[in-house]
Amino acid sequence: MQVTAVERLDLGPGPLSARDHPSSLLPSLEPAYQTRAGAAYVGDAAHLLSLLPDGSVNLIVTSPPYALHFKKAYGNVDKADYVAWFRPFGEQIHRVLADDGSFVLNIGGSYNPGAPTRSLYHFKVLLMLCEEVGFRLAQECFWHNPAKLPAPAEWVNVRRQRIKDAVEYVWWLSKSDWPKADNTKVLTEYSLDMKRLLTRGYKAKRRPSGHVITAKFRQDRGGSIPSNLIDRGNNESNSDYIRACAEAGHEPHPARFPRTLPDFFVRFLTMEGDIVVDPFSGSNMTGAVAEELGRRWLGFEISPEYVMASRVRFKEQLGVGRAQARVAS
Ligand SMILES: C[S@@+](CC[C@H](N)C(=O)[O-])C[C@H]1O[C@@H](n2cnc3c(N)ncnc32)[C@H](O)[C@@H]1O
Repeated sequence: MQVTAVERLDLGPGPLSARDHPSSLLPSLEPAYQTRAGAAYVGDAAHLLSLLPDGSVNLIVTSPPYALHFKKAYGNVDKADYVAWFRPFGEQIHRVLADDGSFVLNIGGSYNPGAPTRSLYHFKVLLMLCEEVGFRLAQECFWHNPAKLPAPAEWVNVRRQRIKDAVEYVWWLSKSDWPKADNTKVLTEYSLDMKRLLTRGYKAKRRPSGHVITAKFRQDRGGSIPSNLIDRGNNESNSDYIRACAEAGHEPHPARFPRTLPDFFVRFLTMEGDIVVDPFSGSNMTGAVAEELGRRWLGFEISPEYVMASRVRFKEQLGVGRAQARVAS
């Protein structure tokens, strides 16, 4: 099947023209700040998404507030209301994506209140997005986060009847069956065994599983194809962010992406110059990664304080300070 795509742009060096800058997609609004390749807005994501033209975005990577039993500082929606709450965001995201675009949704699992059993809300969100809004499930991925605390304490630490949760769900959804994707952009280093095999050679044979491994398997293709378990990886960008927030007197965001998560999907699912949007951008890790990788970006966030703090991720371009955030309405 042939799908239509957003016209691609080679960013090249130097400033972008006003027409090419992604803020041109929201001409009636003033961003809270803008960088060479992106712009951050304060406001409700459903409203801001509704202002974007149809099919204008290549990739949405985001982590909305989860339906947590213990609420974070920025507020979380109850599990019972979550699907209805998220539907308008899902509908807008589907509309603004290009036909070959992807929507990467990080959503954490959670326990039912008062019982050592898991809520199904994140599966219900997935079903709603696929069966009612029209997304395809391109692949389910998992973010491996071994730093998660053993919780709920009552079931894990006290009664010892549940084990520590170390993954979060990452639904990779697409608008068509053929989203733009290239796994050669996210290859990982070959294992020692594979490196040995590449040097010594491999005799074609049938494996116990019945698969026939041919001599082609021996070719060095630059690295291993990664699995759908995305590792936490290097979190340096977040320590820089925390340090810079402390210097500028900002409260850091309490639930940031590790760099690896947006980095992996931006490389895998977009090309240089493409437009990446994070509608629940928090500390704007997604925008910072997109900028570094030569993609254009837009970030939406309801809290003016988080938007102001996220400026520190671009301090070389913006300087650091306590600028006022403008709220889009
Ligand atoms: C889990 S955090 C996202 C963190 C982000 N991935 C990062 O790396 O920092 C979710 C964010 O969504 C914001 N939020 C909640 N409701 C919103 C809405 N209706 N529109 C835009 N942002 C919203 C919250 O303030 C919070 O910062």
